Amino acid sequence: MRIAILGTGHLAEALGGCWARAGHQVIVAGRTPEKAAALARRLGPAARSADSREAVRDADAVLLAVPWDAVGAVVAAAGGGEGSLAGIPIIDPTNPIEHGVGVLLNAPGLANADRIAEAAPGSRVVKGFHLVPSTQWGAAGTTTTVLLCGDEPAALDVVETLVRDAGAVPVVVGPLHRARQLEEVAGLFITPAFAGVDPRTVAPALPPVPSGAVSVDTSR
Ligand SMILES: NC(=O)c1ccc[n+]([C@@H]2O[C@H](COP(=O)([O-])OP(=O)(O)OC[C@H]3O[C@@H](n4cnc5c(N)ncnc54)[C@H](OP(=O)(O)O)[C@@H]3O)[C@@H](O)[C@H]2O)c1
Repeated sequence: MRIAILGTGHLAEALGGCWARAGHQVIVAGRTPEKAAALARRLGPAARSADSREAVRDADAVLLAVPWDAVGAVVAAAGGGEGSLAGIPIIDPTNPIEHGVGVLLNAPGLANADRIAEAAPGSRVVKGFHLVPSTQWGAAGTTTTVLLCGDEPAALDVVETLVRDAGAVPVVVGPLHRARQLEEVAGLFITPAFAGVDPRTVAPALPPVPSGAVSVDTSR
């Protein structure tokens, strides 16, 4: 696939590395072109840098690896308001969370994924990757599950493939209106983490139901 990564920080480097190693073409764009060029060099021959409009042209997927409150400006700079992202799966890994506190910063009822969908008419936003620390990508001996939500089955298929190609297991929880719930979960995990508690110890030990044993309705 041809994957545009908008942003040049920790998550861009971690996932860009996984996808480049998996054989995908990675195009990096950022507001600081020198950082985009340097990251592309670190990612190797499968990667190059470009400005954001060029990066998203003909992309099979776009990763928005920027702070939650920068998504509107970044999408606009990539031409999202003029339809440049129409039909393209946009991965939203953002955490609209007060760092260290865990409070959700979006207006009641709104998810950051909704802001992205509004800024990029016709795009296919998929929320995901936001619960996984960048340092975990590529780490040996770790089983990672990535919760996803989105409205378009074809876009979810693309992102599920990218989750697997990063060495993790995708689980689709439902349509995009579940994004706020996923964002709340990030806030909930951050609170115990900053209290010195491993958030995994908070999760209930629910026995997994074997896949296919019951039919799960992911349309709601
Ligand atoms: N790091 C993680 O472990 C992790 C895990 C899950 C989800 N996430 C989410 O992934 C996103 C990126 O996180 P990160 O850790 O990669 O952040 P980061 O290392 O701080 O990188 C942020 C990137 O966004 C750019 N940026 C910052 N403000 C911008 C603005 N106003 N307009 C345009 N570009 C801007 C930065 O550009 P400059 O360098 O030029 O300033 C940089 O390229 C965040 O939404 C975060 O919540 C991160």
